[in-house]
This record gives sequence, structure tokens and C-alpha cells, in this order.
Amino acid sequence: MNVPSRSKPDADEAGREAPAPTVSVVVPTYREAANLAALAERVDAALSGCGIEWELLFADDDSDDGGAAVAAELARRLPVRFETRREPRRDLSLSVLYGIRLARGARIVVMDADLSHPPESIPELLRALDGGCDIAVGSRYAPGGGIDRNWRLSRLLVSRAATLLARPLTSCSDPMSGFFAFDRSVVPDLGALRPIGFKIALELIVRGNLRVGEVPIEFRERGRGASKLGIRQQIDFFHHLYRLYAFRHGGPLRLLCFGLVGASGFAIDVGCYLALQWAGVEHRLARFLAFWPAVSWNWLLNRRITFRDRVPETPARQWTKFVAGSLFGLVVNVGSYAALTSCIAFFDANRLLALVVGVGLGSLVNFLFATMYVYRRHGTGRRDSPAEADG
Ligand code: GDD
Ligand code: MN
Repeated sequence: MNVPSRSKPDADEAGREAPAPTVSVVVPTYREAANLAALAERVDAALSGCGIEWELLFADDDSDDGGAAVAAELARRLPVRFETRREPRRDLSLSVLYGIRLARGARIVVMDADLSHPPESIPELLRALDGGCDIAVGSRYAPGGGIDRNWRLSRLLVSRAATLLARPLTSCSDPMSGFFAFDRSVVPDLGALRPIGFKIALELIVRGNLRVGEVPIEFRERGRGASKLGIRQQIDFFHHLYRLYAFRHGGPLRLLCFGLVGASGFAIDVGCYLALQWAGVEHRLARFLAFWPAVSWNWLLNRRITFRDRVPETPARQWTKFVAGSLFGLVVNVGSYAALTSCIAFFDANRLLALVVGVGLGSLVNFLFATMYVYRRHGTGRRDSPAEADG
């Protein structure tokens, strides 16, 4: 996937390798030709002014707007590189990873091309790293930060909602920011990262368990070109969040999933029970028959969602195990109800409570049976948390 660089700032005219810069500014680009020059000038002013050795690396998704030529022109006088990624599906986060791999600096800064992020704040990000954090994030929501007034209310709300959804994953005030800096040595193995879509900083923070430092920034709406944040990127965001939740809170998430699947199965159970009687089936027979579609539904959803990362097994065999587990759960459910109401006066007086306890115990048994026996964990090198598997 590595494509030779179109410009070679790292080798001088005699072909000698220039020393690696201290800082690599990695900028994902897709159709940003109109912004490259202004960005490079401002990065130059901000960093050369502080005596920092830098390179600016555009990680481009094979844009068709002449960005490569613009960058080649810039590279005649500035340490600018333009690296083209050629993959069937363009992706901001994967482009950033691609750029980080090709970057030569020990310190990496990631930012947007459209001048939304002020290059003048880069030195402050670097100082924050010196101060001891693992990743310094340019934050719109830290005290002193802000957002362009031109931002539409809808966009502001979406941004706020996304930040809120990520709250259980990080305490960073703006994990949605695409402006951040880190030392290459602190990040996890890049191969272990599995970002999708726009939120690469969030991925790094969560999977790398990084200590976050924040630098307030004033976010400006882009002047030129168009935003690439569309519906697909928003759907990707949910997928990405789900994966990170699974990574961080795998056990509870699986339990929740199992519970939701169980609830949907219960609805099917009741629906079939009523429908069968409506069709004239005797109620006990209806009760017996309704169990099968419901249990099969649960088995399938758990196979596809809750335990999608587990070892795939032949459906018939696994279904049989699942039914066995469910019957066992039923015995525990009804058995504990009978035991509680016959042995404990309190439960005899509050039978509904005994029923709830029975359902709870039965479900727990079902869950343990499923997680330890039905949806096997071993056999392949697949990861062990829901949704870590692709899909
Ligand atoms: N290589 C590549 N591939 N780059 C991309 C792609 C892609 O598919 N999509 C977008 N980019 C680049 C853009 O060219 C720009 O440099 C940067 O990523 C951000 O894209 P925008 O289209 O300007 O996105 P935005 O303004 O909606 O989102 C920005 O603001 C968010 C905060 O609200 C980005 O900075 C996000 O990272 C940030 O979270
Ligand atoms: Mn933008």
C-alpha cells in the first residue's frame, strides 16, 4: 500500500538523506488542493519561528483536484511531502495511520487541512507533551477554547451529542477533535488500532489508555472546499463507538446485548403464543409451540450480535446446545420460583417478586451457559469482546 512519495524533502539534490525532523505534521486530505499552500505557510511560520525542525506530510486519498501538483510546488521551498493512499474505500482515520507510518519525526501532530485548526497552537500542543501527558488534544470545549460562530446549530448539537456518547470512554473534553499531538513511542502498536471513520484521536486515547492533556483552541469553519462529514461518516461513528465500548466495557456490554436479545425473544414468544391461539390452537400446545421460534430467534441474534466474535460453529449443533441451555435456564427459573415460594414466607406473600428473581436467575444461567459453552471462545486467534470482529 506504500506508494513512493511524489516529493522527496528527505533527500537533498545529491541524494543524501536529510536528518529526520523533530515533528511530523500529518494531515489527512481529500480534495483540499485549495488549502494546502496556506496551511504550509502557517505551519512554517508557527514552527520555524520556534526553531523546530518539521515536515508536513499530506496523507491523501488519491484526490483528483491537483493537490499533488500544489504540494510538489510547495516542496521546492518547504519540507512538504504528499503521500497518496490508494485503497478502494477512502477513510480519514486510516489515512492518518498511513501518514503516521510514513512520517519520520519522533513527534506527530495530526490536524485538518482546511485551517479549522490553528497551526499557531502546535507549539503549545508540544509543550503540553513536554509537561508529561501522552497525547495533547486541541480542544474546543476546554476553558478558553471555542467554535466559529458560523457553525450551524445542528452541527453543534451533533458534536455535543457525540462527545457525550464518548463520555464513558474518556474524560477528554473534546475527544472528537482531529487536532492532537503525541510521541510516537507512547502510542500502541499501530497494527492493533482498528479505527473507522473520523475519530482517530478517540481510538488512540481509548486503546492506548493514554493520559490526555488539553490545549484550548478556537475552531474555525473551513473557508474553502467542502466538508466530507456525511451520513456515512456518522453511521461509521456509531460502529466505531460500539467497538470502543466493547473494548473498554466488553463484559457489561455483552450482558446488555444478551438481555436485549432475550427481551426481543420474549416478545416473539408472546406474539406466537397469542397468534397460535387466534388460529385455533389449544393454549397449552400454543405455549409449547411458541417456545421454538423464540428460542431460535435468540440463538440467531446472539450468534450474529452478542457473540459475533466467537468461534463459528455449525448452526445445527450450536442451536441444539443453545436450546439445552435455555431449557436448563427454564428449570432454574421455575425451580427457584417454586423453592422461594414454598420455603420463604416473604416470597410466598410476594409471588411476583419470586417470579422476577426466578427470571433473573434463569437468565443468568442462560448467559453463563451461552458464554462458556454455546458460543465457544477458543479455537482461533479471534479477539474476545463483542463486535471486535469486523462486520
Ligand atoms: N485522506 C482522507 N480521506 N482525508 C479525509 C477524508 C478521507 O476520506 N475525509 C476527510 N478528510 C480530511 C479532510 O480533507 C480534512 O483535511 C480533514 O480530513 C477533516 O475533514 P472535514 O471534511 O473538514 O471534516 P469536518 O470539518 O467535518 O470534521 C473535522 O472536525 C471534527 C470536529 O468537529 C475533523 O477535524 C474531525 O477530525 C473533527 O473531529
Ligand atoms: Mn473541516
